[in-house]
Amino acid sequence: MNPVTMRALLDRWESRGLLHRVKKEVDPLYELGAVINTRNGRQPFLFEKIKGYQSAMAAGLGGDRELVADSMGISSSELIPKIIESIVNPIPTTLRQTGPVQENLVTGEFDLADLFPIPTYHAEDSGAYYVAGILVVNDLSGRKRYTSIRRMQYLGGNRTNILITSPELMEQYAHYESIGEPMEVAVMFGVVPAVVLSSQISTHLYHTDKLDVAGALLGQSLDVVQCKTVDLEVLADAEIVLEGKMLPYERELEGPFGELAGYYGTRTPQPIVEFSAVTYRNNAISQTIFPSSYEERLPMALVREATLFSTVRQVVPNIKAVHIPMGGVARYHAVIQIEKKHDGDGKQAALAAFASDKDLKHVIVVNDDVDIFDSDDVEWAIATRVQAGDDIFIVQGAKGSPLESSHHLKGISDKMGIDATYPLGKEELFRRTSIPIEVNLEDYL
Ligand SMILES: Cc1cc2nc3c(=O)[nH]c(=O)nc-3n(C[C@H](O)[C@H](O)[C@H](O)COP(=O)(O)O)c2cc1C
Repeated sequence: MNPVTMRALLDRWESRGLLHRVKKEVDPLYELGAVINTRNGRQPFLFEKIKGYQSAMAAGLGGDRELVADSMGISSSELIPKIIESIVNPIPTTLRQTGPVQENLVTGEFDLADLFPIPTYHAEDSGAYYVAGILVVNDLSGRKRYTSIRRMQYLGGNRTNILITSPELMEQYAHYESIGEPMEVAVMFGVVPAVVLSSQISTHLYHTDKLDVAGALLGQSLDVVQCKTVDLEVLADAEIVLEGKMLPYERELEGPFGELAGYYGTRTPQPIVEFSAVTYRNNAISQTIFPSSYEERLPMALVREATLFSTVRQVVPNIKAVHIPMGGVARYHAVIQIEKKHDGDGKQAALAAFASDKDLKHVIVVNDDVDIFDSDDVEWAIATRVQAGDDIFIVQGAKGSPLESSHHLKGISDKMGIDATYPLGKEELFRRTSIPIEVNLEDYL
């Protein structure tokens, strides 16, 4: 059975020597983030002592492909097929009367910062904020739970801002504003990587219940409980849940914060959440993700890879694998590996990739003898198999990411496709060198 609680997963990784347990006290102001950042979000950490708090905090659970796969009992090469299969065959959750996350309840007047740590990460951040709570709302039909991650700047007391960039959720909030009602929300902390991963599945593309997809990723139905003060269901095994409402019409200035691409964002008015209750397990462990680290980028990249693979396969059935690398901010670059069967497969695969994801700027297509997870090997393919005049195409002024940072035309971007495959029929010329025997270095030391 795959662990469905964060504690069980931490225990499992600790018993295998994969967890860094930090006993030294760390300050949530910069120091905690600085320690996580030494491993760029790829290393699971458990901080036992956070300055000013009695509770522990976990980070870095979902920034490494092998570990994310391991948390779901599969190997990293099985991740993309598993995501596709889980979207197609979700496993419904099971409603329980009560669960561990409701062992403790805080209502009435409270200050969020008195309960659990809210760190600050980058030098020019405007203050403390929750980076990675899993927001739960009901979709407008009321039949599906819509999970996502939205940062929440602490505003004092029981209030935060919320930053929502996805059109679907903003439209839903706009609907509530149009009828003058608040939108009920819950925010879960202390979850396993499958729950983070499923939260990144695009509502626009799939309209799926993402908690049911998380169940399929873990191979079992996840227990949920009814919240205490809002009409929403949350994971019974989460560590902490905040319950509240997004208020209609109200806005307060938010940011700047260090963002995904490694730059500071802007300061803009954003909606407000007012919390009515906090529930938590005994000895609750809170959870964060270092912003812009591998742990923020990888779940986004993995769900994009699943969509990219399916779309390219429609026109280039001989596609072998795709990789959306972290260096390309998990959205601007893709490397596609194909078994080339027709002249034109390389450029067609790049065109299909651009059609599948508006955020992509640079797509590289390689043969199946290139390791797409090794940037040196991909660069080698470009260096030895590309003639710019023949193999590179550029389309100017297409739709792009709203986060585009290279110019001021947000949402507009040039596209560059690089066909780094060699011509059909030239296999002999492009045969890689090899050594005819295998050795084990330990035998020689
Ligand atoms: C660590 C992390 C932080 C994120 N922060 C935000 C955020 O502050 N605002 C936002 O709109 N999206 C943020 N996202 C991306 C959304 O969670 C993601 O686009 C969304 O879940 C996709 O779902 P949707 O298309 O169904 O809205 C974040 C993602 C991760 C992994």
